[in-house]
Amino acid sequence: MNKLAIIGTAALGVTFAAGVLIGRKCFPSDVGNTFKSHVGAKNDPLMKYLLDHSLREHPVLTKLRMCTLQEPRAFMMVACEQSQLMANLAKLIKAKKVIEIGVYTGYNLLNMALVLPEDGKVVGCDISEDYANIGRPYWKEAEVEHKIDLRIKPALETLDELLKAGEAGTFDFAFIDADKINYSEYYEKCLQLLRKGGIIALDNVLWGKRVLNPVKDPSTQSIHQLNERIFRDTRVNISMLTVGDGLTLAFKL
Ligand SMILES: C[S@@+](CC[C@H](N)C(=O)[O-])C[C@H]1O[C@@H](n2cnc3c(N)ncnc32)[C@H](O)[C@@H]1O
Repeated sequence: MNKLAIIGTAALGVTFAAGVLIGRKCFPSDVGNTFKSHVGAKNDPLMKYLLDHSLREHPVLTKLRMCTLQEPRAFMMVACEQSQLMANLAKLIKAKKVIEIGVYTGYNLLNMALVLPEDGKVVGCDISEDYANIGRPYWKEAEVEHKIDLRIKPALETLDELLKAGEAGTFDFAFIDADKINYSEYYEKCLQLLRKGGIIALDNVLWGKRVLNPVKDPSTQSIHQLNERIFRDTRVNISMLTVGDGLTLAFKL
């Protein structure tokens, strides 16, 4: 190998390692590019048609979405068309108890709270109070704040608290949308918390198409391995949808 090739290979190695390290800490900004209406499919005329003919958004949700779009990490927000699908499903199964792992500014949290009955509750798990503070005025304006139980701490701790409190088998719907490394544990704990006939929705299962990469960084590997495991999991029926950044729906048997 000549000197130039050695330098080139070393540089590639350093770049890859740095990418892996950064990827471990952050939510990469190209994620969501797959089919999300406000990121990858933003200027797609077909997506515009789809939204024009299907999005029935509560006026406060529209305000929260517009406000969140001003934020530098708006790509993290759930796609509005995906959120509407999940709210419709929650309503269909007459959900009363919902858990959301990864709240950000709470677009989906608010959507869930809007479809829950007066005595329903949505437990929101996030580690950032700052993001929640952006959304809170809108939760209040929509008059559903009393249905929202926000817990600011690592989601695994909240899930363990709920299990310890004897809430296994009592939740109707779970939305998993936080750090990818812990997806497998989130899935197992949510499955315990869910009643039969309940639904787990897992976001980012296509991870900006990275699941196709032959060499996978830790987040991609975690998602890919869980996709393989859920595919064989006889405790659930499943559908994997090309909505947002890829959405798996797991129906507990
Ligand atoms: C993709 S965003 C969630 C988007 C949100 N579901 C929505 O409706 O727009 C991911 C969120 O997960 C949170 N998060 C990351 N690691 C976490 C952890 N270990 N526990 C709880 N939340 C976490 C981040 O702070 C961020 O707000």
